[in-house]
Amino acid sequence: MNLQRIGMLLAAIAAGVMMAGTANAQNHADLARVPPMGWNSWNKFGCNINEQLIRETADAMVSSGLKDAGYEYLNIDDCWHGQRDASGNSQPNAQRFPSGIKALADYVHSKGLKLGIYSDAGNKTCSGYPGGRGHEYQDAIVYASWGIDYLKYDWCDTKGMSPESSYTTMRDALHATGRAVVFSICEWGDNKPWEWAPAIGQSWRTTGDIYPCWDCEMSHGSWSSWGVLRILDKQAGLRKYSGPGHWNDMDILEVGNGMTESEDRAHFSLWAMMNSPLMSGNDLRNMNDSARRILTNKEVIALNQDPLGIQAIRYMGGTKVEIYIKPLVNNEWAVLFLNRSDEAVDFEFKWADHHFEDDLNKVKVDFSKVVLGWANLWTKSLGTTAKQFKQTIPAHDVVVLRLKPVL
Ligand code: GLA
Repeated sequence: MNLQRIGMLLAAIAAGVMMAGTANAQNHADLARVPPMGWNSWNKFGCNINEQLIRETADAMVSSGLKDAGYEYLNIDDCWHGQRDASGNSQPNAQRFPSGIKALADYVHSKGLKLGIYSDAGNKTCSGYPGGRGHEYQDAIVYASWGIDYLKYDWCDTKGMSPESSYTTMRDALHATGRAVVFSICEWGDNKPWEWAPAIGQSWRTTGDIYPCWDCEMSHGSWSSWGVLRILDKQAGLRKYSGPGHWNDMDILEVGNGMTESEDRAHFSLWAMMNSPLMSGNDLRNMNDSARRILTNKEVIALNQDPLGIQAIRYMGGTKVEIYIKPLVNNEWAVLFLNRSDEAVDFEFKWADHHFEDDLNKVKVDFSKVVLGWANLWTKSLGTTAKQFKQTIPAHDVVVLRLKPVL
């Protein structure tokens, strides 16, 4: 080969490397510009999972209208792993997933949906299955070969490990495959992931696990899981870390898992306002009408999926009725009145006494100077801010309004 040809070959290789580099960066930059939406197996099924459940859930996601409302990822949580093979490659549990994960991914993709999987940064997952430690690049290649689109990565069995560097290793391993995989960091907020995770994953859990109750702490001995209000209150101070491509994750939804209709409605509305990923966590195959209506309220979902990606502000707290506000595109706002208390409240709000301001994003509205129209996203009633707002809010319930400039 003459020198000129060697030079051309080197240039071609360099261009290829650069293109691959751009493609990876691009994958990362394009992912989760709005909070991911989907379903996760853990809250309802725990370890009782198998390929039939995932297939039936894919079917139900389509037939129930959830796919049409924007739910996309079907995420298999803990307990899918079998033992690694002789070469150390991940394999699914053969009883639960006899056809293998690739076949399942093909099925899920044929429905226009995406498949997520779960693993853990330590030697063992939280349910004791083989974790990813020391196998990060090998696992990422296997996941990519199966067609995985989303990886939730847990933090059990990690004594002495650095979360930032462990999650960075897995992030780099995913990037090296070239596949666009949403990386969902599940470190429970123990090491302030909001400070380091935005550069590593598309979301990070801000708290321990959720529990389907309004305001409880469920103790499991060495750890606790938390009700809706407990998780909400743990979000104080975190909104500045959230934005397109990197979200505060308040955990899988408990809608349809035993709370009252009011509580489910409030829970869903709050997670939407806070730009948490919206992962339904109930049995989509046997969903009652109330859960389905809540999960598919497209106007509430639109608050979560708003392209500005601004997390709500707690405008008024420490009161029976708290107020959350959220700037939206086109100078619109969402306003949520939350009745935290155990009794119905006759709520009145005199708009002209208030002005909303988001210092972080430099937007504001002064209701003594402008009138906005509002639509109630649950009852569908309409009104304007020219008139005092009055409504009885049932216990543990919300009112959610979308405010628009009046033309
Ligand atoms: C941890 C996570 C949960 C779930 C379980 C699975 O508790 O926080 O969301 O993934 O592990 O074992």
